[in-house]
Amino acid sequence: MPTCSQAPKFVITRRLFITPLYPTHQFTNQTIIVTGANKGLGLEAARHFYRLNCARLILAVHNPDKGQAAKADILLSVKRRACSKSDTTTIQVGPLDLRSTGSTIAFADRVKTELDRVDVLVENAAIHTAVFEPVDGGRAGGSGECVEYMPACAVAVAEAAEE
Ligand SMILES: NC(=O)c1ccc[n+]([C@@H]2O[C@H](COP(=O)([O-])OP(=O)(O)OC[C@H]3O[C@@H](n4cnc5c(N)ncnc54)[C@H](OP(=O)(O)O)[C@@H]3O)[C@@H](O)[C@H]2O)c1
Repeated sequence: MPTCSQAPKFVITRRLFITPLYPTHQFTNQTIIVTGANKGLGLEAARHFYRLNCARLILAVHNPDKGQAAKADILLSVKRRACSKSDTTTIQVGPLDLRSTGSTIAFADRVKTELDRVDVLVENAAIHTAVFEPVDGGRAGGSGECVEYMPACAVAVAEAAEE
């Protein structure tokens, strides 16, 4: 591990000079949920899961139109590359607003009733803001909000899966 004084150099070196390994692990038969899958890292993660032949991919987004656009983008881009993609993957768009306790619980309930398994939950959705803003149910916004989002969905989905 780098020391504090080495950290900036470590981060810059990793970002500029190290290319991450291209994922090749197959997700055959697996059900995968990606929150905030309509753009950024979530979209790219979802694209990989689709390419790697998961059985069911749930794009959990708080704007369904953006979710449908992300789905179309994934389908088009993977097919365009004509890689060895089987036609066994179903992509679904699921509404999830992590600022809302009701929406988070409703999403978890749908996981419980509509999915027979969840193999991977990628809790990617977050915002980064310097402005403190209380949100539904007393959870707070501000610079720590990305941290708040993660347990909210994990706990809800885990509870739904255990029942
Ligand atoms: N990029 C980096 O350098 C970096 C560095 C460290 C950590 N991270 C973390 O990595 C994750 C993704 O980063 P990114 O750069 O890809 O972020 P991004 O492009 O801003 O994407 C964030 C995603 O979260 C969604 N989202 C925001 N608020 C939401 C809510 N209330 N309910 C549901 N979804 C919500 C956004 O949907 P909308 O588009 O509809 O708003 C979007 O899909 C974040 O957790 C971020 O904190 C990123």
